[in-house]
Amino acid sequence: MRLLEPTRENLSLAAETIRRGGLVVMPTETVYGLACDATNPEAVARVFEAKRRPADNPLIVHIADVAQLADVSSDVPTQAEALAERFWPGPLTLVVPRGDRIPRLVTAGLDTVAVRMPAHPVALGLIEASSVPVAAPSANLYGRLSPTLPGHLDPDLSAFVEIVLDGGRCEVGIESTVLDLTIDPPTILRPGVVSSSDLRECLGTEVVLSSGHASRKSPGTHHRHYAPRTPLRLVDRLGPDDAGLTFSTPSSPRQIRMPMDPALYAARLYSALHELDRMGEASIAAETPPEDEVWRPVLDRLARASHRA
Ligand code: TXA
Ligand code: MG
Repeated sequence: MRLLEPTRENLSLAAETIRRGGLVVMPTETVYGLACDATNPEAVARVFEAKRRPADNPLIVHIADVAQLADVSSDVPTQAEALAERFWPGPLTLVVPRGDRIPRLVTAGLDTVAVRMPAHPVALGLIEASSVPVAAPSANLYGRLSPTLPGHLDPDLSAFVEIVLDGGRCEVGIESTVLDLTIDPPTILRPGVVSSSDLRECLGTEVVLSSGHASRKSPGTHHRHYAPRTPLRLVDRLGPDDAGLTFSTPSSPRQIRMPMDPALYAARLYSALHELDRMGEASIAAETPPEDEVWRPVLDRLARASHRA
């Protein structure tokens, strides 16, 4: 594995790697992704192997241009066009009918495919230079925290990777909103910083949040996920001896002060949990943010990270 600055030269090197069927870690605005040629089944199989991800959990296909949506989907919904126009490039993934170019391995056998155009110059540059759609799950081992810095990558996963493109810290910090447009009404399978009211406003229709049953369509979203190695619990207030995330002044170096703003909190969340993981505590705690719509994506990640399987 080579950690490279995203120079023009290194981008073409990484693009060549993708075209040869190799794996590259690329920065996006949300989290780092483990990228490969989405049209190459062997490369896709290696991504599943590197992540130790169950084959029933589909990958997101990344594109560099809205027009590329027609290459990966057999029947681009009108709603997808409107949403792409408004939110791409950006942290919104759209589930649409799968096109023949995308092997079933990518979509875990489904006839739908999740697509997004990331708002990151390095990701866009890589996808464009590769001239193929790029499948990229978050670059973490299955069930673990997503990386928001190259230093968060697990060596067991890096062993499968030829190149890591260093984009520094991911600005958004949590994974994209996943919206299924193949069911009516459009359904959010995974909350993210593009909120249900943003989507509703753009579409002018109802948008619902998936309940347990619907989310079976999106296997990665119905069990423990995004979890630190250290057991995490949610509390009202950290005690002076607790290690974890607090909204107040930390009482020890084992506590990390978190911003009271949901977007800033999301941007900091995984790196804070990675830091706590490295402190070797027996357990950690997080103060529960307000039960408010604007905190939904953060509450979702905290609930998953603290869920005991
Ligand atoms: O922000 C992100 O979306 C990051 C960056 C790298 O782009 N990627 C990411 O990928 O989070 P991943 O593989 O960790 O999560 C993909 C999610 C999973 O919850 C999966 O179940 C869902 O998208 N998904 C993928 N294809 C789907 C499909 N055809 N139907 C329903 N859900 C799908
Ligand atoms: Mg993931």
